[in-house]
Amino acid sequence: MRRAAKTHKQISEKASRFSESVIREMTRHAMIYGAVNLAQGFPDFSAPEAIKRAAQEAIAADVNQYAITWGAKKLREGIARHMQQTQGMAVDPETEITVTCGSTEAMIAALMAVTDPGDEVVIFEPFYENYGPDTILSGAQPRFVTLHPPTTAHGEWTFDEKELRAAINPHTRAIIVNTPNNPTGKVFTRAELELIRDLCVEFDVIAITDEIYQHIIYDGTEHISLATLDGMRDRTITINGMSKTYSVTGWRVGWAVAPPVLTSAIRKVHDFLTVGAAAPLQEAGAAALMLPESYYADLAEGYRKRRDKLVPALDEAGFRTFLPRGAYYVMTDISAFGFTDDVSFCKHLVSEIGVAAVPGSSFYSDRHKGSQQVRFAFCKQDATLEEAARRLSKLVIG
Ligand SMILES: Cc1ncc(COP(=O)(O)O)c(C=O)c1O
Repeated sequence: MRRAAKTHKQISEKASRFSESVIREMTRHAMIYGAVNLAQGFPDFSAPEAIKRAAQEAIAADVNQYAITWGAKKLREGIARHMQQTQGMAVDPETEITVTCGSTEAMIAALMAVTDPGDEVVIFEPFYENYGPDTILSGAQPRFVTLHPPTTAHGEWTFDEKELRAAINPHTRAIIVNTPNNPTGKVFTRAELELIRDLCVEFDVIAITDEIYQHIIYDGTEHISLATLDGMRDRTITINGMSKTYSVTGWRVGWAVAPPVLTSAIRKVHDFLTVGAAAPLQEAGAAALMLPESYYADLAEGYRKRRDKLVPALDEAGFRTFLPRGAYYVMTDISAFGFTDDVSFCKHLVSEIGVAAVPGSSFYSDRHKGSQQVRFAFCKQDATLEEAARRLSKLVIG
């Protein structure tokens, strides 16, 4: 049979503007080489028994059909209670919460709900790699503001107020704030959030905050939801989910909390994107949100110990590390190893040393900026981190 002449291009302009996820590609390399996978941020340990049981019971009880598109009532009530308990923020579960397929869907649904072609979205970089493609897919243009690395051993990643202000203009529709931050481990301070708040109010910008690492914070740092700052309640979409807090990245349950006007737009986008998140796992989510406060303290302490195991091993191996204050990643500087770029270093690391990490350039719009940086995830069992440390010690400096 003769094929019809091709008169149309096959790939959209949008899809051709970004490449596949480097993080998930590194996981595949780790599998090929049998490497210790410190690339992708998923735990290699069990989720809490209580929530696994709740998921099993929900399936046994035939919770098998679509949940309400914007989320099972019990889960939304749990999310509202949690926001009240942890941030002192009153949220109406009937009009202000949308349950999504992971916070990943919450982010793209939020962007599609608030931006139009021609709008701009401000993103701090290095950034969690989804934000760039999410913005492009929603038809908007990303604008990047640099987070500058610490200049001292235990310093903080910072941004320049003037650079942030310069990125905002009449086309700016939204700003994405990820705190605690992936990949830097930065936890935005109240003063920084107030600065962002002032600019959002001045330029009528919506903040979309990704707070998926809310409970993973160290050294007495405080997690602050931007929505709780004066003037931000009506212009903030707060995104969170089960993946990181309950060690269930494969369950794909997340949510967006936003004022009713924004929520009704997010719900519409979400409904047509995915209809809903897995119903029995939403029941388990409701159970997870009933866990006692001690669960969250133990979670943070467990990750603090893992951080304090991996960071000295990286220092010892010759990396310059940037100590994270939150989340479960450590960004490093690889200059000491004499590689021209981060990608060839990561290839060497995975194939010759047997450890997978993520090239820093994948977190930057201008890839050159990350060409001497590499990110490691430490959401792993002690034995995994110890094996990684043993392998990393074989790296040669110079
Ligand atoms: C900052 C950030 N947001 C979102 C996600 C994805 O979360 P979810 O599994 O809820 O889609 C990740 C996963 O690594 C992340 O680091």
